[in-house]
Amino acid sequence: MNAPAAPVTLAITGASGAPYAVRLLRALIAAGCDIRLVVSATGWRLLEEEAGIDGRDALRERTGDWTRVIAYDDDDRGATPASGSSPSAGMIICPCSMGTLASIAQGTTRSLIERAADVVLKERRPLVLVPRETPYSAIHLENMLRVTRAGAIVLPASPGFYHRPATIEHLVDFVVGRILSLFGLPHAIGPRWQSGESA
Ligand SMILES: Cc1cc2nc3c(=O)[nH]c(=O)nc-3n(C[C@H](O)[C@H](O)[C@H](O)COP(=O)(O)O)c2cc1C
Repeated sequence: MNAPAAPVTLAITGASGAPYAVRLLRALIAAGCDIRLVVSATGWRLLEEEAGIDGRDALRERTGDWTRVIAYDDDDRGATPASGSSPSAGMIICPCSMGTLASIAQGTTRSLIERAADVVLKERRPLVLVPRETPYSAIHLENMLRVTRAGAIVLPASPGFYHRPATIEHLVDFVVGRILSLFGLPHAIGPRWQSGESA
C-alpha cells in the first residue's frame, strides 16, 4: 500500500478529541500524504483546550514536516477543497462535531469544511466522519444514518480494550489506526488482530 496520489482533506471540528486529530495529522504526514487541512473555529478552541495548541504554528510544531500540508481557512468556501474538479483521495473529519455532522446530513455547505464534505459525497469519494458525543439523541442517530446512506463512513471515536491499552496514546492509536486502514494507508498504529488460535 502506498500514499494516495491525490491529496487527502483533513478537517478538525469542535468535538472533544483533539489528541485524535493531532495523532492523525502526524500519521498522514508520516505516510507521505498530500494533506489539505481545514480547522473550524471551535476546532481551534478544542486544540488549545485539550492539547495546548494555540494556532497554526503550534500545530505545525507538534505534527512534523508540513512540506506536503496546505492549510485553508474554514471561512473560505471557494478554496480548493470546495471544488469537485480538483483531484482528491477523499476526506476525514476528526473529530467531527454533531453540528458539522448535521450540516453535512442536510447539505447546507455554510463553511469550507461542510462544502468540502458535500463535494466528496457528490463525487462519490471516501468520506470518514469521526464523531465524539455521548449519549446520542434521535437527531444525531438519524443524521448518522443519513450521511451513511449518502456514502459516508461513520467511525465513532470508540476505542476497544481488547489490546489492553496501558496509556492514552494506545487508546488514541486504536482509533487513528482504524481511520488509516479505511484509507488503505500503510501504518503500524494500533492493535493487530490476533485470532487466539494456536499455531
Ligand atoms: C469545549 C467544547 C467541547 C465540545 N465538545 C463537543 C463534543 O464532544 N461533541 C460535539 O458534537 N460537540 C461538542 N462541542 C460543541 C461544538 O463545538 C459546537 O456545536 C460547534 O458549533 C461545532 O462547530 P464546528 O462543527 O464548526 O466546529 C463542544 C464545544 C466546546 C466549546
